[in-house]
Amino acid sequence: MAIQIKDLEQLKVMRRAGLLVGQTLQLLRENIKVGMTTDALDAIASANIKRGGGTSNFLGYHGYPKTICVSVNNEIVHGIPGSRVLNDGDIVSIDCGAIIDGWHGDAAFSIGVGNVDPADQKLMDVCEESMWVGIAAGKNGARLSDIGHSIEKYVNSQGTYGILQEYGGHGIGTEMHQEPHVLNFGKAGNGPEIIPGMALAIEPMITRGSAKTKVLGDNWTVVSTDQSRGAHFENSFVICPDGKPFVLTSLDGGKIELLRQGIEVSDLLI
Ligand code: MF3
Ligand code: CO
Repeated sequence: MAIQIKDLEQLKVMRRAGLLVGQTLQLLRENIKVGMTTDALDAIASANIKRGGGTSNFLGYHGYPKTICVSVNNEIVHGIPGSRVLNDGDIVSIDCGAIIDGWHGDAAFSIGVGNVDPADQKLMDVCEESMWVGIAAGKNGARLSDIGHSIEKYVNSQGTYGILQEYGGHGIGTEMHQEPHVLNFGKAGNGPEIIPGMALAIEPMITRGSAKTKVLGDNWTVVSTDQSRGAHFENSFVICPDGKPFVLTSLDGGKIELLRQGIEVSDLLI
């Protein structure tokens, strides 16, 4: 399968899906607190996706049982919501997706609850910034591996972190996971050229220790083998027909964050 190229009309539908994901994550950000269960977060997301006219792309995906992934502390991605109660100082990664009219959105963020260890906060900040650095590197005319190269270079400039190798970003469109796979590390200048109509989910996953992971007995939860804490940020972005990027899952289309990286976002999807 070749990389799916979307036209402006299709991107407008993808923006609706992406915005619903962004709004759902914002709602979770506002409501997460010490003492709540991860299932309570799932219920908020499920209700909001329904209210917004979307459906969940996670629910039923290879048998996945919930609407979002909630990964706590040494869990890095794909944690399954349940009766676990959030404790003071936990760091929580929440991943959410939605479908509207057949088009997918996918995004994630990490956040601390209660009193957060400054080293955990730095882990999350580095991960988030690396996502923006990666999106900024995914310019019209760049090569795919420029994204992962920039992410790796930024993360390594900030300290000693493990960058997960077995998981990465992906194309997104009429399926949640499409070609190409987007590594969060590697040499620059390789892979397909990034061109208008390409939509990519960029999702760095890093730990305070080793990048080695294993999957728990629930067949989903990815944890670091050294028990170090992890962070995960994700946004889906597109190169618009005018050659400028637009972050489909950001409330402002990525305008403020990409401007900080020296990049102007397209106004075609506003
Ligand atoms: N959203 C994840 C990703 O970024 C995939 C979640 S898998 C699921 O690729 F089964 F939980 F949906
Ligand atoms: Co994804």
